[in-house]
Amino acid sequence: MDHPDIIKTLENAGDAPDSPFILFNDWMAEAEKTEPNDPNAMCLATISPEGLPDARIVLLKALDEKGFVFYTNRQSKKGSDLAANPVAALNFYWKTLGRQVHVRGTVEQITDPESDAYFITRPHGSKIGAWASQQSKPLENRSTLETRVQEFENKFKDDEAIPRPPYWGGYRVKPDIIEFWHAGDFRLHTRLSYKRNGHDWKKQMLFP
Ligand SMILES: Cc1cc2nc3c(=O)[nH]c(=O)nc-3n(C[C@H](O)[C@H](O)[C@H](O)COP(=O)(O)O)c2cc1C
Repeated sequence: MDHPDIIKTLENAGDAPDSPFILFNDWMAEAEKTEPNDPNAMCLATISPEGLPDARIVLLKALDEKGFVFYTNRQSKKGSDLAANPVAALNFYWKTLGRQVHVRGTVEQITDPESDAYFITRPHGSKIGAWASQQSKPLENRSTLETRVQEFENKFKDDEAIPRPPYWGGYRVKPDIIEFWHAGDFRLHTRLSYKRNGHDWKKQMLFP
């Protein structure tokens, strides 16, 4: 079933799908057709150990009823934020469609076999990059990075498969809230919020 336009003209929350994942998948499928680059890009907000917010773009690589999965260096700034405060907000914005989706939830590391399965699919250069980049750490100059890339090219040149760095892997944002926003005329946007309620979701429209 196709739900994309239901939200724009939504009269009440009862008319919306009961599962936010159905709606999200419909919107993502449409974004894949309309957005020229990275429809799966999402802004990830985290909280530092000191309680300060930070935000950056990452790519959504998997989604199921358990949550939204992205991959990164777990020793990065976001990794240390998530170790201290395992909560996050995500925001997708699809400009062509006039839509955003806001997500908030708790965060867990995915399993090593799951991270391995994804790492294997990455291009050679991205695998080397994962070893070479000490993500978020100060970098003296560009050639330091290039030297590290060369070192890891040499180190793994005889390996059939480059292993996943132990500090690199996936996180899953397990949503408690998913809000769908559709641009309306004169800023009379449509907002539909889903709040987790045990195994179900409570739907609620919000003023724009
Ligand atoms: C379109 C786009 C996609 C990105 N995807 C990822 C990603 O999937 N994982 C990642 O670690 N960084 C990704 N980045 C880089 C991050 O935005 C960020 O610079 C990096 O992860 C370091 O963030 P941190 O220092 O806050 O941990 C992406 C950047 C852009 C612009």
